[in-house]
Amino acid sequence: MTRCSYGLAAVLTAVSTLAWAEDPIKIGHLASLTGAEANFGQSADHGIAIAVDERNAAGGVLGRKVQVVTVDDQSKNQEVNNCMMKLIQQDKVCAIVGEIASGNTIAAAPAAMRFKIPLVTPGSTNPEVTRKGDYIFRICFTDDFQGKAIAGFTAKTLQAKNAAVITDQAAAYSINLSKTFKEEFEKFGGKVAIEVSYKKTDSDYNAQVNQALQSKPDVLVLTGYYTNVGNIVKVARAAGFTGPCVGGDGWDSDTLYQIGGKALDNCYFTNHYSPEDKDPRIQEFIAKYKSRFGTIPDAMAVLGYDAALVTMDAIQRAGAPEGTKIREALATTKDFKGISGSITIDKDRNAQKGIVVVGIKDAKQYLKEVWKE
Ligand code: PHE
Repeated sequence: MTRCSYGLAAVLTAVSTLAWAEDPIKIGHLASLTGAEANFGQSADHGIAIAVDERNAAGGVLGRKVQVVTVDDQSKNQEVNNCMMKLIQQDKVCAIVGEIASGNTIAAAPAAMRFKIPLVTPGSTNPEVTRKGDYIFRICFTDDFQGKAIAGFTAKTLQAKNAAVITDQAAAYSINLSKTFKEEFEKFGGKVAIEVSYKKTDSDYNAQVNQALQSKPDVLVLTGYYTNVGNIVKVARAAGFTGPCVGGDGWDSDTLYQIGGKALDNCYFTNHYSPEDKDPRIQEFIAKYKSRFGTIPDAMAVLGYDAALVTMDAIQRAGAPEGTKIREALATTKDFKGISGSITIDKDRNAQKGIVVVGIKDAKQYLKEVWKE
């Protein structure tokens, strides 16, 4: 039995009134719509809904309408395979967009490989993700790059020398990002004085924060996801730490600001895009998103939009909604002009993109710098 439920993109495409000669082409969206990382799946689903509606308004794919089937894995690793089986066997999708959290995309990979259904992740950055097999693609940078950017920013811009690293011990993303940060920070002349970890379900972070602060760090590095990060920063500020806290794209969610509020002043994280980018295409997308969903799109919304467009483009070039052919077409994606940057899929099925550092002040983000090596 599966507990997966359908999401917004699916409902929206189902009520479209266009008349089409043939059955729709179905693509899946594997998403965390509820649970600790619910914002990831919801935002991506919004981005995907816009992409699919635009493509359908322009004639669809191979002359057929595209329909999205979104399933909710509840932000739980152990639900992922059920959701994949439902998308593949029950809904008969020909390609799947998802997940955002690296650990969930890794959990989805065996089913994608077994049934030869391409899996295109919008935002999973752990290098291992695309090593799980040749049906697994990503349209974002990896944490080899992101880890270096966080370390470089911390060492050069913040001039920090002594870091305390706090890791989500069950998240593949966080574990690897902490490791890469440490390696890269040392290359920049910095030192990781202490490493501590927490469980996603912990409700009290005092022990970890106190332990980290004992090493008198001049920066706290939090490589986990926004719910935990917001709570940990609050505890650190209450314990008297006024220095900068830094992290990666896992911080990106409006919920972070709701949890952390003013405690997030002097915090920074790396991300896939900045809403302050003046590029007219980006501003046009932001306006469209805002008028439909009422908020400024976060990185997952932008990446979800791009991932859906890249996937539909590949199905069109494949000439048929068949997994093996779509895989070939995805592998030759070149210079696709996304909102998150230009997307070229390399031989390892990754994309190389730019990275920005976002700063936080008064519970709002601003563009701190566009990171350059
Ligand atoms: N990069 C994160 C991961 O791999 C997911 C994420 C992507 C979070 C984009 C926020 C924005 O788990």
